[in-house]
Amino acid sequence: MRLKLSVNGEDVAADDVWPGESLLYMLRERLGFPGAKNACEQGECGSCTVYLDDTAVCSCLVAAPQAAGRRVRTVEGLAAGLPDEELSAIQAAFVEAGAVQCGFCTPGLLVSATDLLRRNPQPSDVEVREALAGNLCRCTGYEKILDAVRLAATRRNP
Ligand code: FES
Ligand code: FES
Repeated sequence: MRLKLSVNGEDVAADDVWPGESLLYMLRERLGFPGAKNACEQGECGSCTVYLDDTAVCSCLVAAPQAAGRRVRTVEGLAAGLPDEELSAIQAAFVEAGAVQCGFCTPGLLVSATDLLRRNPQPSDVEVREALAGNLCRCTGYEKILDAVRLAATRRNP
């Protein structure tokens, strides 16, 4: 089937979509958005987190046809509207705080942290931990990630 949707503000269409395939697969393999990562495909790791309309979701758990006619925002779109090569505040904070090691978890964490700071611009440490509890990282031990979210919370435009 052919599906039309908006990804990062642009209207796109995906062809030959199988009704049972995931939004994650469609984004990565059919639409050329490889930012969201496939680590577990079971909703356990958060590496595939994207916005569907205004809600952050695990895209491996969303059937691609559910995204028809809707707005998807991936990690590639977090800095949309900013000048070329400028990072969003949370992206810049991850770099500055050293919160990226292998980077596999990073796209999902960036979307989840962006979502947190939109809902709660000044989260407590407990609130940050709770908001990111669904995003697993095997490398950093999480402290640098917490530092990055704290740093981004001191700035505008998460
Ligand atoms: S790949 Fe979707 S939660 Fe792990
Ligand atoms: S930086 Fe490697 S999994 Fe998080």
